[in-house]
Amino acid sequence: MYDFRPADDCPKPEAYRQLRDAADALTSGEPDPVANMANIAALLWDFLPDLNWAGFYRVIEDELVLGPFMGRPACIRIPMGTGVCGAAAETGETQLVEDVHSFPGHIACDAVTNSELVVPVHRDGRVIAVIDLDSPTTARFDGEDRAGIEELASVLADRI
Ligand code: SME
Repeated sequence: MYDFRPADDCPKPEAYRQLRDAADALTSGEPDPVANMANIAALLWDFLPDLNWAGFYRVIEDELVLGPFMGRPACIRIPMGTGVCGAAAETGETQLVEDVHSFPGHIACDAVTNSELVVPVHRDGRVIAVIDLDSPTTARFDGEDRAGIEELASVLADRI
């Protein structure tokens, strides 16, 4: 049994250190990208409060294709540059969106989503996937979440 959850009063940077260590332990030595993405989606879901979706989109032949996730069924293919995920994949930059309803082209896979954090995973100078976190709470994500998930993305770069 794995139980990686941080204590309720754990400061966010420490919780993200624990998340990174747990992700490292779960994926170390495992070459299968689907197994690793599935476990990381479950880890994010378990670890982070107030989410309604957590998972991966992979860059395949110039579009984003749904990967392992937790939450409701979601859009399967997203054109590069479209929506929050497409913007992160196209620019290679994290997208921290406090209110998705004011983001041009936002794709509403689930009507309950109000804020979103999308972090690209880079390998060999290109974006290979994005980590997408959605929350029903407006402005759920801040700079500490961004830093923590960017660190996670770098741990995963050669494991997914
Ligand atoms: N809202 C995203 C689409 C993916 S779902 O949230 C799972 C977007 O605008 O890219």
